[in-house]
Amino acid sequence: MNVLIIGSGGREHALAWKIAQSPLCEKLYVATGNAGTAQIAQNIDLGINDFPNIKKTVLEKNISLVIVGPEEPLVNGLADFFRHDPELQKIKFIGTNQSGARLEGSKDFAKHFMNTHRIPTALHRSFTPETLQEGLQYIDNHSLPIVLKADGLAAGKGVVIADTYADARKNFMEMLAGKFGKASQKVIVETYMHGIEMSVFVLTDGKNFITLPEAKDYKRISDGDKGLNTGGMGAVSPVPFANEDFMLKVRKRIINPTLKGLQAEGIDYVGFIFIGIMNVNGDPFVVEYNVRLGDPETEVVLPRIESDLLEIFDLTAQKRLNEVQLKISPKTATTVMLTAKGYPESYEKGTKMTGFENLPKEALAFHAGTKTLDNQIVTNGGRVIAMTALADTLDEALDISNRAAEILKFEGKHYRKDIGFDLKKLVK
Ligand code: GLY
Repeated sequence: MNVLIIGSGGREHALAWKIAQSPLCEKLYVATGNAGTAQIAQNIDLGINDFPNIKKTVLEKNISLVIVGPEEPLVNGLADFFRHDPELQKIKFIGTNQSGARLEGSKDFAKHFMNTHRIPTALHRSFTPETLQEGLQYIDNHSLPIVLKADGLAAGKGVVIADTYADARKNFMEMLAGKFGKASQKVIVETYMHGIEMSVFVLTDGKNFITLPEAKDYKRISDGDKGLNTGGMGAVSPVPFANEDFMLKVRKRIINPTLKGLQAEGIDYVGFIFIGIMNVNGDPFVVEYNVRLGDPETEVVLPRIESDLLEIFDLTAQKRLNEVQLKISPKTATTVMLTAKGYPESYEKGTKMTGFENLPKEALAFHAGTKTLDNQIVTNGGRVIAMTALADTLDEALDISNRAAEILKFEGKHYRKDIGFDLKKLVK
């Protein structure tokens, strides 16, 4: 079958890499893709929210299955557009409808959903400009630190962890005054959870589900979890503390009620649910839901999947996920993200990259922000490339990822040298 992946980051390169291995895959397209996806698929220059042109491409290229990488087109209703268009109705589509996408598109909806279905999460209250004074009082009586979240999508920047009341009040007022536009017309004030975070990924067809390998992401820009928040600087799978006992709690207290809740609310959810989980003294709490795979988590999750992912997507779209026996490698996958100078603040693009031919042959270089210019690969984003390795042990995998990160060269390159170090002591 001909397949279209929508998106252009490391997550989409990893999806393309995995799908290209399927004997079911005939032609593979990525919109818009990057220099890495161009090596294994055909890139198409297409806006992720340009629904009419996505339709035109799908019909012209005879595509029978579409996978959506990022959340934005889902929040904007791309799945609904396919479902309601007579010419697109039969196309298999992996990505939730707009109703389900509220799990990520509205933090207020997600919190109410969790409270309604008794899914453990931090205590919260939501405020609007009309209830600003009430919100300030709530903040003054709250324990520190205080978490503030913009209700809507804010390009990953809508969460503030305030360590002082002054900082919390300032950010709260700025957010309600429109710091993130429409996204912060409502602000969620939440209790900070002390613990260690991990990412759990579920694929559901609306009736059945499978749980993919879990991962741990490293969000801060610098070693020792210091500095600004990023989209993710590296990841590891499996997560040593996510043992059988903990994952049983995750399944019973979080995954099962989430899926039952969606059904109870009449939401026909077909696609990924990425659940950010905080392990608080051995008990799991939901930090947030996302309606997509994580990035760079995908770069360690997919290499551990031994089953044919395209076959799984095909069955998902047919609501036959109950027929899938997911085969997962017991090996450890690690990834180290290389970023451009200045990231996560403003950064340069178009910097020449060299050293691809010298990378260790066991390394998987998943391109994130790259493109080809005059036959040369150059940087084209803040997060540039994720160096993944799959090996028998965490140490071996990290050695390959770190060597690859060192070998690839571009001016201003930055990467964390301590990915996975916190987990070493937990590995038996
Ligand atoms: N790595 C976190 C995310 O994809 O949101």
